[in-house]
Amino acid sequence: MTETTNATTDAPTQPAEATANGRVRHRQGKARIRDGVPYSDPTSTLSLLPGAAIGEWLADVGDVFTGRLLDAGAGNQPYRDWYEPKVDQVVAVDAAPIEGLSALAFANRLPFRDASFDTVLSTQVWEHVDDAGAAARETFRVLRPGGHLIVTVPFFYPTHEAPYDYARFTRYGLAAVLRNAGFEVERVDAQGGPLLLGSHMGVLALSQALNALGRLLRLKRPLSLLPGLRHLLCLPQQLAIAVRYRLRGTRRGIRFGSGLVSLGYFAVARKPD
Ligand SMILES: C[S@@+](CC[C@H](N)C(=O)[O-])C[C@H]1O[C@@H](n2cnc3c(N)ncnc32)[C@H](O)[C@@H]1O
Repeated sequence: MTETTNATTDAPTQPAEATANGRVRHRQGKARIRDGVPYSDPTSTLSLLPGAAIGEWLADVGDVFTGRLLDAGAGNQPYRDWYEPKVDQVVAVDAAPIEGLSALAFANRLPFRDASFDTVLSTQVWEHVDDAGAAARETFRVLRPGGHLIVTVPFFYPTHEAPYDYARFTRYGLAAVLRNAGFEVERVDAQGGPLLLGSHMGVLALSQALNALGRLLRLKRPLSLLPGLRHLLCLPQQLAIAVRYRLRGTRRGIRFGSGLVSLGYFAVARKPD
């Protein structure tokens, strides 16, 4: 039971905390604007990379996407074009007022009826919830019996979206959070190994160096966030991710590994019948 078990609507609503943390995100890439000022965190450059790996992994677990889908912490819904044709209805919510959402809502206080979704997706959100267990319990509550949660979290990843960054998960920690909420954990996969992680940190170092250069040149915008440059910095890794997963097979049978050193983890969990 959670504090929102008595929610009386399954239509998206505006929660009282609608303004959440007051951030907005513009839709060109994932660079953020906070109070009208470009968000200069160099880790913004990196946000392209987990997305590439997550996209590859989602394709491998695509069969569990059915019926009415909740994207909880949807952000700018980077995977929507892919999952929308697989399901009957999409409800996309986030704590921040981002264009294109169905509603504002916190993942740990969902304004939906019990058992009102067949599928819930939460990619790179639970580290931003100050109580990930509550997000897991809320997801469990709004899923129908037999429904699936698809969740991804970072493990070895810089602090980002500060100060709203509260946790990192080992694969065992993620599985424990899911089991404690009542889920059957069907699979947990690693988001790459040391090579991907190392090259990721390389991109971060390069971004920081570029931003330092930008400051010296008194540029208004962080150099690493210039759209073209940002994509160029990440291109080698994005290609490596695509090639790596494709070489390991298409769709079925891809081995994502059990890596203990990884950017993050992906999990599929089922609410028992
Ligand atoms: C790293 S972004 C991920 C966004 C998107 N799921 C993706 O994969 O690109 C984290 C998102 O979680 C949202 N968020 C943070 N705390 C939240 C909460 N308690 N409930 C719902 N969303 C939250 C943020 O506003 C942000 O859009």
